[in-house]
This record gives sequence, structure tokens and C-alpha cells, in this order.
Amino acid sequence: MPATMNRRVLLKSRPVGEPKPSDFEIADAPLPKPGDGELLIRTIWLSLDPYMRGRMNDVKSYSAPVELGGVMTGGTVGEVMESHHPGFQPGDFVLSYGGWQTHHVAKAGAAPGPFGPLKLDPRVAPISTALGVLGMPGMTAFVGLYDIGQPKPGETVVVSAAAGAVGSAVGQLAKIRGCRAVGIAGSQDKCEYVVKELGFDACVSYRSADLTTALRDACPKGIDVYFDNVGGDVLKAVLRLVNPFARIPLCGLISQYNATELPPGPNFGPVLVNRVTIRGFIVSDHADRLPAFLAECARWVREGRLKYREDVVAGIDSAPAAFIGLLRGQNLGKMLVKVSEDPTRR
Ligand SMILES: NC(=O)c1ccc[n+]([C@@H]2O[C@H](COP(=O)([O-])OP(=O)(O)OC[C@H]3O[C@@H](n4cnc5c(N)ncnc54)[C@H](OP(=O)(O)O)[C@@H]3O)[C@@H](O)[C@H]2O)c1
Repeated sequence: MPATMNRRVLLKSRPVGEPKPSDFEIADAPLPKPGDGELLIRTIWLSLDPYMRGRMNDVKSYSAPVELGGVMTGGTVGEVMESHHPGFQPGDFVLSYGGWQTHHVAKAGAAPGPFGPLKLDPRVAPISTALGVLGMPGMTAFVGLYDIGQPKPGETVVVSAAAGAVGSAVGQLAKIRGCRAVGIAGSQDKCEYVVKELGFDACVSYRSADLTTALRDACPKGIDVYFDNVGGDVLKAVLRLVNPFARIPLCGLISQYNATELPPGPNFGPVLVNRVTIRGFIVSDHADRLPAFLAECARWVREGRLKYREDVVAGIDSAPAAFIGLLRGQNLGKMLVKVSEDPTRR
């Protein structure tokens, strides 16, 4: 029976420190009505990503915060239920930016970009991968490593949050480029996954008693590229081991997303003496790389050279707890909410 209500997760209060379930409110609303040029979309998959923590704060960033009482923002893959645009039919699968809710209306015909509305072909790859290895996180790994990190065969590439959506792709892309790939992750289990299943050369837990020594052992020729997903103490340890002319794509700082006070910064002495390049980047600035990313990474996924794992919870009501868990490192691979049935996976 077609749904008559739209179930939504709203931002109820701005978290101080770690988000709590009470910072979210789950509420039903009537189904939205699409106008001219618009689509009504039933969400199948909702992506949960660390950047959403920043959107819960009322501070200036590279994009606007979620309003109090507003629907939490997020990338989605869904099925078109009703189309008022000639380019889309009911039953089409689309990537869009529907947010934490069961249904939404999207403007079709707006310039399609890496974040939609983009029609997906389930014969090319499972549609959920448009939120993971073949979506924003995969493209972040591709652009951040290849364009900004510029790894050369034989170099050592280190990546933190190595068992997550971005990090797991970074290490595999480093291997494809002929580099030594070393992961840093939060547990021995994650390290085992990264080495045994994804083919990294080594992985160390940042909870080990002496991270610098563990990293030095894993990187006997020093570190040429550090793909930083976490900042903080891990960055400090890495900086002690960088080689001359090392590159550091600064992708994320998840160790401080819940911080109420910023930690003291790292010592930049090694950055100066080794002439290290550190460059922050935001994947949405690199939309021109979408065709190259999709062509190469879709092929590597098909060939089994770029593996991925999805960590799935069921139902829109599960989103707040799963998001809190993501920030605590409870996910392995890409964190997804299965909001409704995926007809391509029956
Ligand atoms: N610049 C961009 O355009 C862009 C785009 C996408 C993502 N990002 C950034 O990329 C990073 C990874 O994102 P993702 O989507 O792939 O998430 P993810 O790695 O799938 O999940 C987040 C992981 O971060 C780790 N973590 C949490 N707290 C930590 C801490 N205090 N210290 C060290 N690690 C911690 C956890 O793994 P452990 O168990 O290993 O701790 C957790 O599983 C995030 O910083 C995100 O903001 C940036």
C-alpha cells in the first residue's frame, strides 16, 4: 500500500559535545506534493556521514547549518513515485539529497552533479554504492589521494579512519597506484579487516600504547602521503615520521567534531624542515572529476580491485543511534540506513 505520511528526523536541539538521542525528534508529516519539474521520491537508502555533525552546530562553515526543527540533511538513493519532469519516470532510481526522511520532493532538471538528482542504473552497480564507494566518499578518496596526495609508485601512503568509507578506498587506491598502504584504525578487528580483506600492507591501532613506534615499524621508509581523516594525536604522531616533500591531504578532523574545546595544535617543525605540503579540500569543489572517478572506480569495483563493505541499520527511526555510533567508531565500512525495500536486491 503506498505510504500516505512522510516520517522525518528533525534537529530538536544543538548538541553540546556528543549528540544525544534527545537532540533529535521523529515526527510524521503529510506526503509532500511535487510541482512542475519536480519528483516525489521514496527513500530507499540514507547515507550517514561525519560532516552531518558540523551541520548540527550554528557556526559558519562551507555550508549552512540545519535549522532547529528542520529535517537533518543527507544524501539518499530512492525510487521516483511521481514525476513532473519528462526526463524521469516512476520506478527510476535516483541519487538526491533527500535528508533523514522517508519521502521528499526534488527538483529535476537542475544541473545534475555528483550529489544529484542523478538517475542510477542498477545494472552498473548496486544502487546503494552511489552513497559509498561510487559516491561522495569514494570520490573524496579518489580526488584527495590522486589529485592532492599525488602518490608515486613505491611511496608509502598512510590513511586514518582506514576501515571507514573514505579510508578503506584510499588504501586500496594507493595499492592500485603501486604504493605501500598503511592504515590507522581504532581496533585490532578493524586493522585485521583492512589488511586481510582489503589488502593494505599494514595497519596500526591508534589505541596502541606507543603509536609513533607502531607506525615507524609499519613505515620503514617513512611517510610520503598522509591522508588525514582524524587530526589530533594521530596527526601529531604522523608528523614525526614524514619524509621530505611529503603531502598531507587534509580530508577530515573527526577526532574533534564533538569537542567542546579545541585541543592544542601539532608541532609544525617537521612540516617546515621537510617542506611538507598540507592542503585541505572539500570534495564538492571537484565536480569536474566525477566522470574520471566513475569510469575508473566503477571498473575497479567490477574487477574486485576496489572492495567495499556496508554497515546497514533498518528503518528511519534507527538513524539517530546509528549516527551517534558512527562518531564513536562503531561502524565498519559505509554507514547506511535502509529506509525502505530495495527492489533491486530482492
Ligand atoms: N573533505 C571532504 O570533502 C570530505 C568528504 C567526506 C568525508 N570527509 C571526512 O572523512 C573522514 C571519514 O569519513 P567517512 O565518511 O569515511 O567516515 P567513516 O570513516 O566511515 O566513519 C568515521 C570513523 O572515524 C573514526 N573515528 C571516530 N572518532 C575518532 C577519533 N576520535 N580518532 C580517530 N578516529 C575516529 C571511527 O573509526 P575508528 O574505529 O577507526 O576510530 C569511525 O568509524 C571524516 O573526517 C569526514 O568528515 C571529508
